[in-house]
Amino acid sequence: MIECQRLKRNGIGIELQEDVAKNSKHLINQEQNNGTITDIYVGDSSDFDYSKLLEKYNSKGVQFILYHPPYWDIIKFSENEKDLSNTKSLDEFLNKLEKVIIDSTKILEKGRYCAIVIGDMYKDSQVIPLGFYCMQLFMKNKLKLKAILVKNFNETKGKQNQQALWRYRALANNLYLFKHEYIFIFRK
Ligand SMILES: C[S@@+](CC[C@H](N)C(=O)[O-])C[C@H]1O[C@@H](n2cnc3c(N)ncnc32)[C@H](O)[C@@H]1O
Repeated sequence: MIECQRLKRNGIGIELQEDVAKNSKHLINQEQNNGTITDIYVGDSSDFDYSKLLEKYNSKGVQFILYHPPYWDIIKFSENEKDLSNTKSLDEFLNKLEKVIIDSTKILEKGRYCAIVIGDMYKDSQVIPLGFYCMQLFMKNKLKLKAILVKNFNETKGKQNQQALWRYRALANNLYLFKHEYIFIFRK
């Protein structure tokens, strides 16, 4: 939402937790709004009336959608049963996310882009390629894959103490190894 304001674009955010939405609004309000409208709605993005939203702004469609869902249950964001991080199985998570994709991309104008920030996970002694499962949901729903960006997150605050370990592993094994997540970009 802050990037929307900086880029002089109107933006709408949807967040399940009221306190998170409130805090985001507070942070957004500390920035110049550059004449834009930036609103955050508290709601379940898998059960949201997107077309009503358009009516409210007297708009025909949106020009970009960015999804940044929980990475299934790696981090539990709340106790709310509607929280995507509280889905009981991978299938349930993917089904709910697919509903978000289907419902929200109905208001995305044809030819416009959407993107998801998502990572893989490791659970029960195996890699779960969550990023690629999510990528496939978009493709299954007729969104054209335009780019796969692999984003290094060695530098994030939470991971800064692990940098030496990852560098050591890469050098020791003659690999280009780094902690990463993806940004998949699609066109409608
Ligand atoms: C990975 S975080 C995204 C953080 C966000 N990009 C930011 O910079 O603050 C995932 C967010 O999705 C929210 N969430 C989980 N389930 C949701 C749902 N069904 N509808 C809307 N938001 C949901 C969580 O509360 C959490 O804040």
